[in-house]
Amino acid sequence: NNTKYRFISKNSLKPIRRLPDALVIGVKKSGTRALLEFLRLHPDVRAAGSEVHFFDKYYHKGFNWYRKKMPPTLEGQVTMEKTPSYFVTKEVPQRVKQMNPSTKLLIVVRDPVTRAISDYTQAASKKKNRSFMQSFECLAFVKGTGFSVVDTSWGPVRIGVYARHLTKWLKYFPLKQLLFVSGERLIRDPAAEMARVQDFLGLKRVVTEKHFYFNSTKGFPCLMKSEGRPRPHCLGKTKGRNHPYINQKAIERLKEFYRPFNLRFYQMTGINFGWS
Ligand code: A3P
Repeated sequence: NNTKYRFISKNSLKPIRRLPDALVIGVKKSGTRALLEFLRLHPDVRAAGSEVHFFDKYYHKGFNWYRKKMPPTLEGQVTMEKTPSYFVTKEVPQRVKQMNPSTKLLIVVRDPVTRAISDYTQAASKKKNRSFMQSFECLAFVKGTGFSVVDTSWGPVRIGVYARHLTKWLKYFPLKQLLFVSGERLIRDPAAEMARVQDFLGLKRVVTEKHFYFNSTKGFPCLMKSEGRPRPHCLGKTKGRNHPYINQKAIERLKEFYRPFNLRFYQMTGINFGWS
C-alpha cells in the first residue's frame, strides 16, 4: 500500500496561548464591545473577555504576561483583545509594532459629539453622588465663555479628535493594516459591517444577518445566541444607555468644532463617515 499519510504533529491540534494577531484599539464609547462580541460569534476567533490594558498600563509586565492573558487558540484561529484606550495613548503604536509589525488594527468610530455625550453619560453613571456632577455643557466649554470656547483639555472632547490620534498610528503602521468600523453602521446594519471586518481579518463570512435581530425595546441589534448563551440576548445594561438632554446650541458649537478634524479624518481614511 503506497498511500502516504501527511504527518500531523500532535501539537498543532492542541490549543495554546499566543500573542494577539489583531487588536480592537478604540475608540472608547463607539461600539467596541459590540464589535468584539459580534466577532466572538466566529468559530475562528478567540478573544480575551475583558480589557487587558497591556500596552498602556501593564507593559512593564512583559509579553509573557500578556500572552497568558490570551485565550488558548488552535493554529489558524485569530487571537484578539480590545482595549479602547490604546487608540489615544501615545506610547502604544510603537509598542504594538515591536510586538508584531503585522498586527491588524480595528478602530470603531462614531460621531465625536455623540461619543463625547456617551463618555460623559458613562462617567456620570459611575459617580456615587450624581448631584455633584457638573453638566455636560459646563465641562465641554471653558468657564465664562458660554458655549463658545470648547475645552479641548477635557478627555471626552479630546478623544474625539480622531485625526490627531490616527496621525500617531500612521507613523508606525500602513493604512492598509487598519480597519475603520462605523459605529453608526454597526447599529444600523451589523451584518454588513461584520462582512467588512471578517474580510479584513481573512476569515470566512460566518457572522451574517441570521445572527442578529433588532430589539425594539432596547433600540439596538441583539444576538440570537452566542457561546454558552443559546437564547436571544442583548449586550448588557451599560451598552445603549439613555443620554441626558444637551442644549442644542452646545451641540451645534461642538459640531462646528469637530468639522475640520472630521474632514481631515475622512481624507486620511478615505471614508466619509457622514458626521458633518
Ligand atoms: P451608548 O451607551 O452611549 O448608547 P463601547 O462598547 O465602546 O463602550 O461603546 C458603547 C456604545 O456602543 C453604546 O453607547 C452604543 O451606542 C453602542 N452600540 C453599538 N452596538 C450596540 C449594540 N448592539 N447594543 C448596545 N450598544 C451598542
